[in-house]
Amino acid sequence: MLAYYRVTGMLETNGVSKRFGGLVALQDVDIQVREGEILGLVGPNGAGKTTLLNVIAGLYRPDRGTVRFMGEDVTRMGLDRLCRLGVAKTFQHPQSFPGMTAAESVMVGACFGNHHTPSRAEARDEAAEWLEFVGFPDGKADRLLAHLNLMELKRTQLARALACRPRLLLLDELTTGLNPAESVEAISLIRKIRDQGTTVLLIEHVLRVITGVSDRVVVLDKGEKIADGAPAEVLASPRVIESYLGRAAAS
Ligand SMILES: Nc1ncnc2c1ncn2[C@@H]1O[C@H](COP(=O)(O)OP(=O)(O)O)[C@@H](O)[C@H]1O
Ligand SMILES: [Mg+2]
Repeated sequence: MLAYYRVTGMLETNGVSKRFGGLVALQDVDIQVREGEILGLVGPNGAGKTTLLNVIAGLYRPDRGTVRFMGEDVTRMGLDRLCRLGVAKTFQHPQSFPGMTAAESVMVGACFGNHHTPSRAEARDEAAEWLEFVGFPDGKADRLLAHLNLMELKRTQLARALACRPRLLLLDELTTGLNPAESVEAISLIRKIRDQGTTVLLIEHVLRVITGVSDRVVVLDKGEKIADGAPAEVLASPRVIESYLGRAAAS
């Protein structure tokens, strides 16, 4: 089986298409995520990035195409089962339960992860470890999510996803809303997560955020994949310059 993963990638989408009424959000999208890499998925607002991540995570069903994870067809599998297989996801807008504390929300991840069902005490210990791993401020673990700032919420989200012990982590716009110093911290956290063994698929709409940290970059535009390769290669692609950088420079 291992040789098969090496050839095909840990996760792959084949011919994924998704419409919302008359709007084509994704058109025949093929991407591969290879084990151990950070893959950046980039594209202007409305390009279809979040939709693709939602299809991968089982939140949306594609109209056509398949999603495979570790060789298994997971196209119609929900996020809860995928999580047990080793896929965890964060959301573009930190949706959360404002009445939960940071520690409690990470304990939820620990309890629904792919490895085992811990006792409450074990889940609490695991939550504390993951909060420390992501640099969550000491002493704030028992604060309500409603009272955390954006960076603290993002750290909590990451800790919650990591507490599931994912093999693959799907991150949607981790740095959006952060100031430049916080973005740099978030990017170094992504490296740290990959270095401890988790493969990362990272969405961003800001190209420069993603090119520094990604091993490979896929560019979507209007629901179609327009580039796929090493960051330098993608940055030099005339189609990317025209359709993505041109628009960004103009805005
Ligand atoms: N649930 C939905 N219902 C209708 N249209 C949607 C929905 N989700 C996304 N879209 C549309 O699909 C297109 C792609 O959106 P999205 O995947 O959110 O793009 P991105 O994340 O790249 O900004 C956009 O035109 C958006 O308005
Ligand atoms: Mg989005």
